[in-house]
Amino acid sequence: MGLRFFLLRPAIFLFLLLVSLLRCATASVTYDDRAIMVNGQRRVLISGSIHYPRSTPEMWPDLIQKAKEGGLDVIQTYVFWNGHEPSPGKYYFEDRYDLVKFVKLVQQAGLYVHLRIGPYVCAEWNFGGFPVWLKYVPGIAFRTDNGPFKVAMQKFTEKIVSMMQAEKLFQTQGGPIILSQIENEFGPVEWEIGAPGKAYTQWAAKMAVGLGTGVPWVMCKQEDAPDPVIDTCNGFYCENFKPNKNYKPKMWTENWTGWYTEFGGSVPHRPAEDLAFSVARFIQNGGSFVNYYMYHGGTNFGRTAGGPFIATSYDYDAPIDEFGLLREPKWGHLRDLHRAIKLCESALVSGNPRVSSLGNNQEAHVYKSKSGACTAFLANYDAKSSAKVFFGNAQYDLPPWSISILPDCKTEVFNTARLGAQSSQMKMTPVNSAFSWQSYNEETASADDDDSTTMNGLWEQVNVTRDATDYLWYMADVKIDPDEGFLKNGQSPVLTIFSAGHALHVFINGQLSGTVYGGLDNPKLTFSDSVKLRVGINKVSLLSVSVGLPNVGVHFETWNAGVLGPVTLKGLNEGTRDLSKQKWSYKIGLKGEALSLHTVSGSSSVEWVEGSLLATKQPLTWYKTTFSAPQGNDPLALDMNSMGKGQVWINGQSIGRHWPGYIARGGCGDCSYAGTYSDKKCRTNCGEASQRWYHVPRSWLNPSGNLLIVFEEWGGDPTGVSLVKRTTGSVCADIYEGQPTLSNWARLTSGKVNRPKAHLWCPPGQKISQIKFASYGLPQGACGSFNEGSCHAHKSYDAPQRNCIGKQSCSVTVAPEVFGGDPCPASMKKLSLEAICS
Ligand code: GAL
Repeated sequence: MGLRFFLLRPAIFLFLLLVSLLRCATASVTYDDRAIMVNGQRRVLISGSIHYPRSTPEMWPDLIQKAKEGGLDVIQTYVFWNGHEPSPGKYYFEDRYDLVKFVKLVQQAGLYVHLRIGPYVCAEWNFGGFPVWLKYVPGIAFRTDNGPFKVAMQKFTEKIVSMMQAEKLFQTQGGPIILSQIENEFGPVEWEIGAPGKAYTQWAAKMAVGLGTGVPWVMCKQEDAPDPVIDTCNGFYCENFKPNKNYKPKMWTENWTGWYTEFGGSVPHRPAEDLAFSVARFIQNGGSFVNYYMYHGGTNFGRTAGGPFIATSYDYDAPIDEFGLLREPKWGHLRDLHRAIKLCESALVSGNPRVSSLGNNQEAHVYKSKSGACTAFLANYDAKSSAKVFFGNAQYDLPPWSISILPDCKTEVFNTARLGAQSSQMKMTPVNSAFSWQSYNEETASADDDDSTTMNGLWEQVNVTRDATDYLWYMADVKIDPDEGFLKNGQSPVLTIFSAGHALHVFINGQLSGTVYGGLDNPKLTFSDSVKLRVGINKVSLLSVSVGLPNVGVHFETWNAGVLGPVTLKGLNEGTRDLSKQKWSYKIGLKGEALSLHTVSGSSSVEWVEGSLLATKQPLTWYKTTFSAPQGNDPLALDMNSMGKGQVWINGQSIGRHWPGYIARGGCGDCSYAGTYSDKKCRTNCGEASQRWYHVPRSWLNPSGNLLIVFEEWGGDPTGVSLVKRTTGSVCADIYEGQPTLSNWARLTSGKVNRPKAHLWCPPGQKISQIKFASYGLPQGACGSFNEGSCHAHKSYDAPQRNCIGKQSCSVTVAPEVFGGDPCPASMKKLSLEAICS
């Protein structure tokens, strides 16, 4: 110690103060009218949603890496309250709910995080993310100026914020979180509920800001977001959005890359060209933050799907598919778009654009920085015709509904409608030799069962089950006198049941009399059919099944499920008997659930049958088999097409609800990328199962002895179930001569003739084994169905075969001499290629 140290102390203190001040000055996230500023620098940020519980921790690093390679700066996720607080005060942050681990993995990859705490999240997630117990807090009303709700919401929000702070995860602490979100799309609800909604918005913003995270908060779809909270846009397009104050940046928190699938609905797709167009249009109009919702949609494992009727797959037609594989051309096309945008970043953040007209439906947006950087976006909004426009001293050819990006105001490097990226065709290949199944019959419950409870009248389902299970039995005894007329005249009475949803199996004396179900548009259902009754006591057993709790709508917590009646029996001597008010017995869940048949230990508690005794096409049946994990790392799925409806488990983990028996209604018409997209456009699977494949995460498997359990409600044929692997079948390129590509940037800017290249590559572990199609000229069709057109260079196959066979990746220059000369000099030609990956 001594005098020297004593004298030095103020100096050390000053030094430390300076260091910490400097750190504060560098580690900051603020904003102005133009952009979010990270460490004082305005940024154009590209973000993508990956919801951590919709994949496994083992998948996270790869998903994040693919997001990074796709050109993202930010990963956005909601926080899923009902996953984290399954019962009041009992928290869970393990496994798929290990939020801290997820955020740290994003940080390790060098990306930022946008944390949407909500805690209301919508997201097609069960109950919009709220724990079901929350509904039973006395006096509660969700998402309004309600004391008990606000207390609970604040407690959970504080819990998450303090957890992030303790782990130093906010950017101001050196962490990756640069933004947060409170609430979710509350604006439309506020508009409906009025004053209490307004008060709640003010409270929510104040509460969030008061938590002192040091990074900005956003509220999406919230026009009156109180300062300093930024209101942001969600939608398929947001180019005309304006934040509520002129000192806030223009941000897009949800650009829907596709749409969700519902059981009974067809499968939505959004063309990559339109998605890229929407982003380019937003950026050219002054936007500086775009988030893809979803970038990886993933899977609604277990009973996490909301709706009701949201499918287990949450693929969303996202750039990374449900299984974690790249969806091409979407992923690659967006990567190219992001590279083009990044080349423009410094000019873009310098100020506002100069907009000029280039024609009836064409515009130029030009950004200039003080240092002289110039960037231009040339747009053609015409959905039908391409346009030749003059800009600067040059002419540019703009396809319909497209935007070209000129990072130096001269050289076009990217057009949203011209795909430079390859497309790919995925295939599902069976990998197991037939499973050997055993079956066990679930009992039809009856009012006499010891574990049933008897009450007067019909009770709402969730009030009884608290959503611990999808299943609730409603059971009644119906007495038939020997003198009933129908016993002689053979005219069976008609049983009519009104239910609030979502599906219902009707059993009379243990026999299935029928199944009815609702849909996302209308979950309600009615059963009405003649039933076989006998003299004496008849056992009416109704198995009411919920298929996910609602996640959206004003006071969705008050929506009902289950048999609420009336229940009537018509055609008796007395006329119509009302069964609604009589005694009903209730049993929560299935016997197989009580026995935990889905687990290794539970499954050995009953006698299973096999061989000729195996039950097929019978309702309420449990199936069991074991299998070994297939070699390799390819993602796996179960093909459930031969089954009806139920749930699947592997080694005790729930794969989710299966319902291939629900056939997709509606029309699946043509799909042009051009013109305003809506989720009704570009649908597939009409007339087929809405969802046939069910993702089986690799990490849930052991090398051998994996226990597969299926509970089937309707009756299906388990011998048709197979395990499949998902791989890339073939890859395609479709490149026009002269098409600008980013990889040609050096050549383009040096003024040389543009000679674009078609690039093809198979995923790691696969190689190009065959050129299935090659045509330089005027080929037609799309990847998987190319055919030669009126003009075709007869040497089209030579170069692709030479360059590609046996390689993982290759490229072919699109120029006449490569294909033995020009087959049709007067026409604009292209090269279409399809290569098989093996
Ligand atoms: C938005 C909502 C998201 C999701 C989306 C549809 O309105 O904020 O959570 O539900 O719709 O997929």
